[in-house]
Amino acid sequence: MENFNQNNDQKTNQNLNQKLVIEQSPPLKGRVRVGGSKNAVLPIMAASILAEGRSVVKEVPDLSDVAHMELLLKHLGVSISRDIGAGVIALEPAALGSARDPGERPMEIPYKLASAMRASFMIAGPLLARTGGARIPLPGGCAIGSRPVDLHLKGFAALGARIQSEHGFVNMSAGRLKGADIYLDFPSVGATENIMMAATLAEGQTVIENCATEPEVVDLAGFLNMCGACVRGAGTDTIRVDGVSGLRGGEYAVIPDRIEAGTLMIAAAITRGDVVLENVISDHLRPVIAKLREAGVSIEEAGKRDGGGADETGAMLRVSLPEGKTLKTVDLKTMPYPGFPTDMQAQAVSLLIFAEGTSLVTETVFENRFMHIGELKRMGADIKIEGRSAVIEGVKTLAGAQVKATDLRAGAALVLASLRAEGVTEISEIHHIRRGYDGLEEKLYALGARIKTVEA
Ligand code: EPZ
Repeated sequence: MENFNQNNDQKTNQNLNQKLVIEQSPPLKGRVRVGGSKNAVLPIMAASILAEGRSVVKEVPDLSDVAHMELLLKHLGVSISRDIGAGVIALEPAALGSARDPGERPMEIPYKLASAMRASFMIAGPLLARTGGARIPLPGGCAIGSRPVDLHLKGFAALGARIQSEHGFVNMSAGRLKGADIYLDFPSVGATENIMMAATLAEGQTVIENCATEPEVVDLAGFLNMCGACVRGAGTDTIRVDGVSGLRGGEYAVIPDRIEAGTLMIAAAITRGDVVLENVISDHLRPVIAKLREAGVSIEEAGKRDGGGADETGAMLRVSLPEGKTLKTVDLKTMPYPGFPTDMQAQAVSLLIFAEGTSLVTETVFENRFMHIGELKRMGADIKIEGRSAVIEGVKTLAGAQVKATDLRAGAALVLASLRAEGVTEISEIHHIRRGYDGLEEKLYALGARIKTVEA
């Protein structure tokens, strides 16, 4: 198996010195396969430490966030082997042992390791349940908002954990956790997942009300139940977990990445292309499909997903915007699932720049998720931010410029706008994009995009 440590260090360093050069591109044409979901695989990797024995996760995308989670788990003593090309990771948490003696120091995650990725906090619930404690850096804010974890900690406390925050760390300790009724003030994805994971080994039943219903929460519940947990109601606003004494690792394939799919759909539409996306679950894309159709994009569902999964929905989507057809304006508001996903907001803004008339995009989930707008305006976009809304006046075209990615989805939005803009656009800070997109430039290049990676 590849020595991913050295490989990933090299790749991360490369990313910091690279930029994307994108020219105005012809209509994208062809077929592209969507990869596994970043936001499903990260909590599932963390959940593997709850189980005795090896877990094998498939459809794992090659992302720097995945490599980071590997480093984190390896630091805890999880042995990991990975075949990046095949998208398979094997995780064996035996070295973690089980509940620690009361006097023993809880396992600690170094600040440097945790602060590089917010999703590092997803190991809190599993560590607490498996070893009885943890000392983890409190995640800081990030480009898109303050991103507190108060709802996670409130849930752990309800399960009987003693929580103490000091010097930027949170110390958690508990004997065996006890099931509890927990109401989430906000349907937080991460809090739902962290509490659900911790509750799988608690004594008795835990009820999580007003929880997140995202497909990635459902996928995590599927992994946990495959390991022998008893999680019911995932996908609804109330999840019930009956604690068990132990879980056993197993084999699991994660769902396709609905945000990568949505991003590729907008790449097809913004270039007036005609692209078939393979390996999608169209039910996970209902709000995105609805809004793109409202904007005048043609979307046809086809095929059925073979094998597992309860979805009876299309496994392929054909996305096109015929020449001469103009984009219509659309008003959209991001909401927790099944509303329009906040992770698609920046990409939708890029598309609506080219609609005829005024569009309104309102971001209700994060407090600072308009960082892409400043860069898009440097390319000639006519957008005003008013409170939590962006007012977009359609323009005929944009002009290529030197811009920088400020966060993952803002970077994707700049790629999309650059495909349509006249001239050449150079995007720096593309390590943000590599966190959540597996080979985006290769996939777009194969569809006819004029895109390449160069050393900055
Ligand atoms: C997950 O983040 C995703 N990340 C995010 O995707 C996604 O944007 C977000 O869910 C919303 O869908 C992963 O799954 C790894 P939240 P998470 O907890 O769990 C507030 C991407 O681009 N909140 O649902 O951190 C919080 O401040 C990333 O792939 C609290 O107030 O999101 C935010 O305003 C970005 N207290 C809102 O809830 C808490 O304890 C939504 O956050 C937790 C959250």
